[in-house]
Amino acid sequence: MPAVVIVGAQWGDEGKGKASDQLGTRVDYVVKYNGGNNAGHTVVVDGDTFALHLLPAGILSPGCTPVIGNGVVVDLEVLFAELGDLQRRGVDTSRLKISSSAHIIPSYNKRIDALNERMLGERKLGTTGRGIGPTYADKMNRIGLRIQDLFDPSILRQKVTGALRQKNQMLSQLPAEEHFVVEDIVQELLAYAPRVAPMVTNVSTLLNKALDAGQTVVFEGGQAAMLDIDHGTYPFVTSSTCTAAGACSGSGVGPMRIDRVIGVAKAYVTRVGEGPFPTELLDKSGEYLRTVGHEFGTTTGRPRRTGWYDAVVARYATRVNSMTDIVLTKLDVLTGIERIPVCVAYEIDGMQVEDMPENQSDMHHAKPIYEYLPGWSEDISQCAAFDELPDTAQGYVKRIEELSGCRISAIGVGPERNQTISRFALLPESA
Ligand code: GDP
Ligand code: IMO
Ligand code: MG
Repeated sequence: MPAVVIVGAQWGDEGKGKASDQLGTRVDYVVKYNGGNNAGHTVVVDGDTFALHLLPAGILSPGCTPVIGNGVVVDLEVLFAELGDLQRRGVDTSRLKISSSAHIIPSYNKRIDALNERMLGERKLGTTGRGIGPTYADKMNRIGLRIQDLFDPSILRQKVTGALRQKNQMLSQLPAEEHFVVEDIVQELLAYAPRVAPMVTNVSTLLNKALDAGQTVVFEGGQAAMLDIDHGTYPFVTSSTCTAAGACSGSGVGPMRIDRVIGVAKAYVTRVGEGPFPTELLDKSGEYLRTVGHEFGTTTGRPRRTGWYDAVVARYATRVNSMTDIVLTKLDVLTGIERIPVCVAYEIDGMQVEDMPENQSDMHHAKPIYEYLPGWSEDISQCAAFDELPDTAQGYVKRIEELSGCRISAIGVGPERNQTISRFALLPESA
């Protein structure tokens, strides 16, 4: 009954989609449990590039059932646009299942997301503008709309009426024609009901039965530990539980069923949006990583901020997720750098600090303490086994493994499915 969770171990865009897609070819279910179409996963299959936002990467693997869990927030317009794109490219999307308890991103929340950012002014978060924060806020505030509400027009109308009473107050400064009208929203949502109906499932029952029957389930996290609403660099975070615990609350599978937690980490670090980033490079090395690593957002196209590998972040991600394995991606991007800095600790107010500071202000002025590791110049993109890597590349992996407190089980040397070196099996024996 193997259940494996994939999580981002940094600030997102580590290559979770590629890892999930690779496992998806060998498992029965791939479940997205948090976030929504703020995620952007680029997956390359036999030279074809797919950019997924709302859908789990398992959708690309024939035989694997992709699932959207209750912890996800669903923009129905995006759902059908993404499904349509995949269908036009010949992907069979008919197996997709969606939890009846997943929340819906109504169009007014995209507007509120933009307004929130405007009201924050200089303290804006740099959100993806997809309505994620306001929709999770509505969920907690108990004025959210769920997939199951699509099938009861009277309840839906009551809920939209209640929500808009609050929302239109927020929008009161805007001209009246920009206020949201209950019936418009209700009709917009009800139009999706017949198309969503065949996908709607009790995801908790489905997955628990699958695990009972010995099938394999991969939980694919969106975003990352440092963007987690509780454990990330609050308030510069997303609004969901991105860490491994979210796989349970976001799908209805209990924690004792999880066998493995795989953290995906880049061989360096990137971040999109605002917030602290101790190893950030604002010089030409940062530009080099951005250019060679093609570090531009899949969702918004924004240039990603870049920096050296941060072992403080890695140790923290290992701890808050109970990570059992690391998939280290994009090692190939470091090829050609003579001496590679790795952050081993922070200096905060003259003190050396090994652990993630609990206090946010400390994180804002943490300075990286670097160790310098020898680089390599050989092309590693075709290496298929660990011992085919140059000695210094092996040394880099082993040193960051030691510093991160978690074994590195796979290493990415290029974006293609097969450009991954395996050191230890990622799926338990029974899978
Ligand atoms: P995700 O959000 O965690 O799924 O990551 P993204 O898809 O946003 O960003 C990762 C990018 O790196 C994608 O464009 C992948 O195709 C690419 N990628 C993943 N692994 C590797 C790797 O090992 N080497 C290289 N060069 N690119 C990779
Ligand atoms: P994947 O799954 C990187 C960031 C945004 C912003 C903050 C809040 O591809 O790794 P939100 O729209 O979620 O309210 O924005 O979180 N962010 C991501 N950064 N990768 C992601 O997803 C992200 N999803 C959200 O840039 O700083
Ligand atoms: Mg991404």
